[in-house]
Amino acid sequence: MKKNIVLIGFMGTGKSVVAKQLEAMTSRRLVSTDELIEQKEGKPISEIFEDLGEDYFRRIEKGVVQEISQRESLIIDCGGGTVLDKENVANLKKNGIIFCLTALPDVIYQRVKDKTHRPLLNVEDPKAKIKELLAVREPYYAQADYTIDTSHGIVEIVAQEILNFLPYD
Ligand code: S3P
Repeated sequence: MKKNIVLIGFMGTGKSVVAKQLEAMTSRRLVSTDELIEQKEGKPISEIFEDLGEDYFRRIEKGVVQEISQRESLIIDCGGGTVLDKENVANLKKNGIIFCLTALPDVIYQRVKDKTHRPLLNVEDPKAKIKELLAVREPYYAQADYTIDTSHGIVEIVAQEILNFLPYD
């Protein structure tokens, strides 16, 4: 049995691209909490937030985390807020090694500024919102087993850094 590789971290830190790279470099299957939520609900995250609110989204997210945490040998691409719930963290840790991806606030801003699918950043001043959320979330992201800065943006290097912690992959 192989422990899951769990990617957490703020929006725009590269979780999804690194997860895809890891999938290409290993025999592991990739699952994304956001994609599973969208499949279950039959609509994009932005609509779920708009129609039913963030609390509803978090409930569905929790169910999805509970389900996938029971599986093994996965790459789990988490949403940026998944670790705000302590049961989610406990579930993910049971069967996984948690890697937090980080990036400088300005780099995050550059990566997300032209995208519209993240309801929490569809605000008047996304730069200020990024800094505010990062400050609040810092202790949650600090629960990771390892933290890797992606500000340089080289996906293959980040994926390889993760695999270096997993000698059996
Ligand atoms: C969220 C991050 C998003 C998505 C939702 C909420 C957050 O995922 O789960 O919009 O609270 O940070 P990404 O980190 O993949 O953008």
